[in-house]
Amino acid sequence: TQPTAQPQAESHSIAAVASQPVGKLTIIYASQTGNAKGLAETLHAEADAAGIHAEVFSAGDYKGKNLAKATHLIIIASTHGEGEAPDDAIELHEFLQSKKAPNLSHLKYAVIGLGDSSYEFFCQTAKDFDSYLNKLGAESVLERLDCDVDYEAQAAQWRASALEIVQQTLSTGEAEVVQLPVGQSQASVSQYTKQNPYDAALLTSQKITGRNSGKDVRHIEIDLEGSGLTYQPGDALGVWYDNDPALAARVIAQVGLTEKTQVDVDGVSLVLLEALTKHYEITNANPQLVTQYASLSGSKKLEKLLSDKDKLRAYAGNTQVLDVLAEKKTKLTAEQLQGLLRRLTPRLYSIASSQQEVGEEVHLTVGVVEYQQGEETRKGGASSFLSHRLEEGESVRVFVEANKHFKLPENDDTSIIMVGPGTGIAPFRAFVQERESREASGKSWLFFGDRTFTEDFLYQVEWQKYLKAGVIDQLDVAFSRDQAEKVYVQHRLLEQGAKVWQWLQEGAHFYVCGDANQMAKDVHLALLTIIEQHGQQSREQAEQYLTELRKSQRYQKDVY
Ligand code: 2AM
Repeated sequence: TQPTAQPQAESHSIAAVASQPVGKLTIIYASQTGNAKGLAETLHAEADAAGIHAEVFSAGDYKGKNLAKATHLIIIASTHGEGEAPDDAIELHEFLQSKKAPNLSHLKYAVIGLGDSSYEFFCQTAKDFDSYLNKLGAESVLERLDCDVDYEAQAAQWRASALEIVQQTLSTGEAEVVQLPVGQSQASVSQYTKQNPYDAALLTSQKITGRNSGKDVRHIEIDLEGSGLTYQPGDALGVWYDNDPALAARVIAQVGLTEKTQVDVDGVSLVLLEALTKHYEITNANPQLVTQYASLSGSKKLEKLLSDKDKLRAYAGNTQVLDVLAEKKTKLTAEQLQGLLRRLTPRLYSIASSQQEVGEEVHLTVGVVEYQQGEETRKGGASSFLSHRLEEGESVRVFVEANKHFKLPENDDTSIIMVGPGTGIAPFRAFVQERESREASGKSWLFFGDRTFTEDFLYQVEWQKYLKAGVIDQLDVAFSRDQAEKVYVQHRLLEQGAKVWQWLQEGAHFYVCGDANQMAKDVHLALLTIIEQHGQQSREQAEQYLTELRKSQRYQKDVY
């Protein structure tokens, strides 16, 4: 909630009491996408409303040594890929572990983490900050909260507790209580956001994989006309979706409930069928759901998974809610079912267009998730909504999620290397459209991979046109199933090692988009090998080289 303007003029002025200002709240966020930043801004507004003097910094702009002078600190950290700190936070993260870090026994702090419990290194960056601050002598005043994907409600509670503690300790420390002028921190213009999405019309949805492809990938175009929404290449589109009512009905039947049962969702009374269709995640399972259901159902199979975190994560990541419930049929109350399910969260899709090219439209490249589970077909929540349930002309609730960590070089003379197999190609279509319209003079090199040349070469015609026109300088493709041996993008990179190294030495930026579990790791390893071989470096030096590349925003990943 936004702070509301207070009518009394007095409350707008600085209510200084003590002569010695002894405290203020420092808020630092380490954001990969915009979530941590968004939380930091909300916290800042709430602090202002509570009369707490607070300052917000991106971790990238905060000098670690200034912590020696800070009194109250809240860190909001999201975790990236395999537990790495977001690019912006690498420096602060390193500094706090180094010998240069100051003693922080004067500092009160609290940490909140953002992550996804389906991943192994859940909230790792927040855990790291918590432990480094603790080792440096700082006093934790509130237990760290590790937020999962549907964090809003939990985070709001935590913020309230944190601010209460900060306020108490500030005032007992004779702190100067400063009220900022009203209006200073209020959101400037009303804008469509995650909480207030724009109702956009679907313009087209077209299958772009061949008839005989094993995959169904859609090119989707959405109308943003009149919304005022803008985006940059590299940003994502958040898409809210409704679940398939038929799936909701099956979940309800599976736990012995009826569709018309009245339930409460945020103080509103709804029938269970509508609640599950619109407000709960009923497609993807997650480790917490499996853990809770193991105890509700007493399923031996699920109970066994609980002792092995890796197995639990793998199972939860590959199983849908309905199939977890089917492990042992169990009757639940509506409240138990609601407690088991996460709230529905929007899906983020990397945007596949540049506004320089498409104006007030946004394009996506959506892989439709669909697989057989025994006799039945299981479908992805958002992808099946976009490709099967949404008709052209109908509306879909969307918002733009900026991603400042996946951006074209500022300088158009800079060369770029893009690695985007499968739907990982999406942001590179945006990059190339943008560079074409800007008539960028830097070179562009694209690595694309998929199963087969004839069925799965996404946007083939466009790439060939760009190649011919010199908009991209080189295109290397890896079709993994066109020959007996698998050939992947990283093999193409290795074949081109000398040239890749040369481009990097000349200052090229390197981008990877797509699968985080295997592909991005293998591409990273290929890069290390290239640096070792062609740069005559040791493994350790090669790793350092890539870390430096990451810090200078020249090695960027958009992986999921
Ligand atoms: P496969 O399915 O034939 O194994 C896009 O999905 C492409 O990425 C497909 O060609 C897929 O190949 C390939 N792929 C699978 N695993 C990969 C990995 N570890 N690294 C790079 N590409 C991979």
